[in-house]
Amino acid sequence: MVHSQSAIPLPAQLRWSVATSAFQIEGSRRADGSGRSIWDDFVDRPGAVVDGSTAEPACDSYRRTTEDIELVAGLGVDAYRFSIPWSRVQPGGSGPVNRAALDHYSRFVDGLLQRGITPQPTLYHWELPSEIEADGGWLSRDTAARFADYAALVTDGIGDRVHDWYTINEPAMTTLQGYGIGDLAPARRLLFDALPTVHHQLLAHAWAASALRAAGARRVGLTNNHTQVLPGGDTDADLAAAHVYDTLHNRLFSEPLLAGTYPDLEVFGLPALPVLDGDLESIASSTDFYGMNFYNPTTVGAADPDDPLPFALLPTPDVPTTGFGWPIMPEALRDFLVDLARRHPNLPPIVIAENGASFPEPSTAGRVEDDERIGFLSAHLAAIAEAMAQGVQVEEYTVWSLLDNFEWADGHTQRFGLVHVDFQTGIRTPKASYDWYRDRIRASRENR
Ligand code: NOJ
Repeated sequence: MVHSQSAIPLPAQLRWSVATSAFQIEGSRRADGSGRSIWDDFVDRPGAVVDGSTAEPACDSYRRTTEDIELVAGLGVDAYRFSIPWSRVQPGGSGPVNRAALDHYSRFVDGLLQRGITPQPTLYHWELPSEIEADGGWLSRDTAARFADYAALVTDGIGDRVHDWYTINEPAMTTLQGYGIGDLAPARRLLFDALPTVHHQLLAHAWAASALRAAGARRVGLTNNHTQVLPGGDTDADLAAAHVYDTLHNRLFSEPLLAGTYPDLEVFGLPALPVLDGDLESIASSTDFYGMNFYNPTTVGAADPDDPLPFALLPTPDVPTTGFGWPIMPEALRDFLVDLARRHPNLPPIVIAENGASFPEPSTAGRVEDDERIGFLSAHLAAIAEAMAQGVQVEEYTVWSLLDNFEWADGHTQRFGLVHVDFQTGIRTPKASYDWYRDRIRASRENR
């Protein structure tokens, strides 16, 4: 397959990154006195993960740090987005730091810096300490304060060398899937009673951002998971359902950060969020860049009468799909970016903190000619270039993921990596997309 470059060139200043998260790659779940998280609890429940895998050893990355850093360096990226688990660094979610774990990440940061790679840790990629969940988890406002304390502990260990931070990864997934539906940890099915978790996560982000800045951080943001919502039909019921879904998935998380307000939930018959005086001001001033993860659009139509949810998620017609069955529609990313910038004229620079796709690939070690992934990534870069040509400011692009890894409730059945991982042996083999990404970055730098 021939992969055409985007007709519109990307600016030479665009920064390039690649991402992973701790629980998905590290293994060694009990190493260095690590505490338990809601994901340890999730994988221990029989039947919770489709293939029965447990993220142990996953990619064995807690022990293979040198190898992973070499793979990141080989891409020539500017930065590496990885995560630091709260449950390792502060077991139980309160009290003193676990020095052995923090030292591990400190050495890792040094390894990246020695190779000229900017470390971009995420402080919460879903490893909530189990004890905090027992105290109410993200349903409790107190969790936000505890998260800010944890952020301060991490800066004590690595804040002298780390200046770029992500606080929270995809708060929408924690609310909708973790507490609303229950197919991600902590596997609660509270439906709309999950809504307070929106506000507590955004507050946690804002308070942690203050703690990080007090310790010298230069760039702090969170990353929202966004989807372009496509109405499944043109009836009033379809349009209304699409609007509710867009509010719940996108706007509940973007508008407080970008406009200092929450969308009105009461018009949908839903409870207002537990906002106290001053909260929205803290949230609105909390982000130096606008981080977003983008994978696919979502087609939404009117709900079935006996469904407890006021919308139905439908297949997107006439487009190819990824291994997950997710619709591939790069122009949905362009349209989402253009619309977001139109609604928020003071939008800070956008960072695409994740973009990628899974495809069916062999499990045993060997070179994979993943043309479909190359096609997916190059088409999404072209969509970004088109949005930028319409005035949207994007400053960084990140591929999910460096490695095939543990895809949460889907275990090892979905491979997103630029690098193939044989989970029996840990052997890593760069795929064709790894070479393509390296060459793409190199070519774009030629004009820097
Ligand atoms: C977003 C999440 O942040 C990441 O953990 C996950 O693997 C990818 N989506 C793919 O589902």
